[in-house]
Amino acid sequence: MTEFNATGEYQPSGPSTRLNGAPAESDAHSLTVGNNGPIVLHDVHLVEQLAHFNRERVPERSPHAKGSGAFGTFKVTQDVTRYTKAAPFQPGAETKMLVRFSTVAGEQGSPDTWRDVRGFSVRFYSTEGNLDIVGNNTPVFFVKDPLKFPNFIRSQKRLPSSGLRDGNMQWDFWTNSPESAHQVTYLMGDRGLPATWRNMHGFSSHTYMWVNAEGEKFWVKYHWRTNQGEKNLTNEEAARIAGENADHHRQDLFEAIERGEFPSWTLNMQVMPYDEAKDYRFNPFDLTKIWSHKDYPLIEVGVMELNQNPTNFFAQIEQAAFSPSNMIPGTGISPDKMLMSRVFAYPDAQRARIGANFHQLPVNQPVTQVNNYAEQGHMLYHHTGGAPVHTFNSYGRDYTDAEVVDEAGWEADGALVRAAITLHAEDDDFGQAGTLVREVFDDAQRDRFVETLTGQLTGLDKKVQERAFQYWKNVDETIGQRIQDRVLARENH
Ligand code: HEM
Repeated sequence: MTEFNATGEYQPSGPSTRLNGAPAESDAHSLTVGNNGPIVLHDVHLVEQLAHFNRERVPERSPHAKGSGAFGTFKVTQDVTRYTKAAPFQPGAETKMLVRFSTVAGEQGSPDTWRDVRGFSVRFYSTEGNLDIVGNNTPVFFVKDPLKFPNFIRSQKRLPSSGLRDGNMQWDFWTNSPESAHQVTYLMGDRGLPATWRNMHGFSSHTYMWVNAEGEKFWVKYHWRTNQGEKNLTNEEAARIAGENADHHRQDLFEAIERGEFPSWTLNMQVMPYDEAKDYRFNPFDLTKIWSHKDYPLIEVGVMELNQNPTNFFAQIEQAAFSPSNMIPGTGISPDKMLMSRVFAYPDAQRARIGANFHQLPVNQPVTQVNNYAEQGHMLYHHTGGAPVHTFNSYGRDYTDAEVVDEAGWEADGALVRAAITLHAEDDDFGQAGTLVREVFDDAQRDRFVETLTGQLTGLDKKVQERAFQYWKNVDETIGQRIQDRVLARENH
């Protein structure tokens, strides 16, 4: 009998077999009529090998297709029990983790060092179920209504006609969606080209909720600060590495962990008391905005260390199913429309990409006991034998008919509308992007920023280019003018 360990691995031993366990007569020679004759259809071993090979690939993730990751541990270092009762954040807690880093737009096999936002997905295998924070290496995002998301991703992927990536399409989308300016400023700045995954920070970007043991609620943002120091590449370095080694970041992480150089990140939170959300100067559920660190300083929670490489990339990284729907008691989402949609979108993508029982794979299984009435479906492995398949049963399987107020919920009222989220006192599309350019970037960063945008905007269709010049002037008049002058000078040469 084949023995599987906890991660689903088995030790292959003995002569090779067919999938039914019977001996495979030969791995070298197919069954033919005479040495040179036709192959017969009842060569079960050959047919199995060819048919399974045809099904070896699963569809890649629609965005964030290229990535890799590792396992690790999260250790709590500070007492944050006044903000949350969530198991992995309690004093003394040590929780197994899985992390996956990725690029957004490229396909499997695309270079790790193309300019892009990087995905930063984190899973806590907590004693109360899996908690996933599926974020990026930037604190904001391009759009704030989920209806725009698929269109945004399409604009970053490939033209339907030529199959090429296309600057006009990208800049057409961004300049027609001015709320993107803040995130595009991060993307075109140094953070668009991290030196390695180990050298970048991570962010939940969205506002989430924490709930303490007394039921008190807080709005929170997760910040993962790299302990390796932030480092980025220049355009030239990134282009050179892309040509030399498309898997530069994947290899760097894997080899660092093999060498015993375990990268770590310190988890810090911004915490906003529940009632302050109403009047905060920026709408705290607007994913294109940050909260000022002066208003809500970082509060340390603990340290995550990555210390174990996957033993099988496909089983443990490719089939990992991260999702903002994976919440646990003491945590919750917020009224951010993007986040509410992601709670649906991820498990739906995973049912299509991996299969209806994706949660049963070892990498996706929680360490807690599961008692769920989901039944059957492709590739069912764990099952409940002859136990009742219906709730409201009188045969002893637990179910609940409790009426409860969602502990991580919020009040909502009003007519059904299709409308933009409410603006708070200082909300606009360009203000925080301008602050980033003027107050966070230094002179050298601003010079690199102008250089990068000159490369990006040179040669675009005039109508898109003119809108792009105006977009950057709206962010900052001086920087916009510098970009325009450089682009036009280059085009006139
Ligand atoms: C309405 C907005 C969004 C939708 C509908 C959406 C949808 C998706 C889908 C379908 C996947 C592939 C999931 C899979 O096949 O496993 C994905 C991956 C991902 N998304 Fe989003 N996304 C949205 C916004 C965001 C935002 C705002 C962030 C970051 C703050 C983000 C970060 C990621 C990351 C990091 C991954 C890769 C997950 C992994 O490592 O497996 N997405 N997204």
